[in-house]
Amino acid sequence: MAVPEASLRQLSFKDFASQQFNLRLREDFPYEEIEWVVGMKTPNEKCAALVHVLYEDELRHEPANEVRGWISWHSGRTCKIALAIAERAGFSDDQKAVLGRAALLHDIGKIGIDPAIVNKNGPLADDERSVMATHNRISQAILKYAGLGTEAALAAAHHEHQKTSSGRQRNDLIESEHRDMKQHADLYPLMAVLELADMTDAMVNFDDRPYPNHMQELFAAAARDGTLGDAVFQQIAENPYLDKEILFEDLVKVGIARAVEMRKE
Ligand SMILES: [Fe+2]
Ligand SMILES: [Fe+2]
Repeated sequence: MAVPEASLRQLSFKDFASQQFNLRLREDFPYEEIEWVVGMKTPNEKCAALVHVLYEDELRHEPANEVRGWISWHSGRTCKIALAIAERAGFSDDQKAVLGRAALLHDIGKIGIDPAIVNKNGPLADDERSVMATHNRISQAILKYAGLGTEAALAAAHHEHQKTSSGRQRNDLIESEHRDMKQHADLYPLMAVLELADMTDAMVNFDDRPYPNHMQELFAAAARDGTLGDAVFQQIAENPYLDKEILFEDLVKVGIARAVEMRKE
């Protein structure tokens, strides 16, 4: 017998987000659409519905510079890069399915943030940056509420480049924001691959974003002289937040090659 949707959902998403994640979401947040996803049966159906919610929401808040749906494009590419790495790393089909869904939805939390901040064409002020830094927790809340608990843990753990460059310690992130991570040590390899794929796309496809990226000049020059892959690799190799034991050189190269390939497509 089918379980009525109301019994699947004890709390409204608004209450869930504020009570369990201490989140205050933007005024016109699409609460009903998130609640509607709970009633779907399979993880893939839930994922497809949430990808749609993200894309529609993005188009509703079209950035001034007309980069339409850039979070969705970034998420799709992150998924392709992550799966190319996972393939080479020999992940199981189940692991790849979870990783793929988490990659497609890791940034969905940006729909909870004021679009003026998300799409700002210029550097973020400190207060804006700290609002932006909550987006992985919002992704985590959305996915957990929707019944995608494993994907939620992965989304929670994706470390933003802004955060990692701000000098905060990985342990701080784990303690204060990534509660799920500790309960999912078996997911560490998937988390590391998602983080790598996310960062690789952000660096290789920087010109798809509405705001200037501090790497922009470096990578634009590298793209012109054909050394883009080397430049990206250098940045990743220097990132103290990536676990080098998991992300050995070969996998990093696979991710970069896929990202560069997509840049040419
Ligand atoms: Fe992100
Ligand atoms: Fe991302």
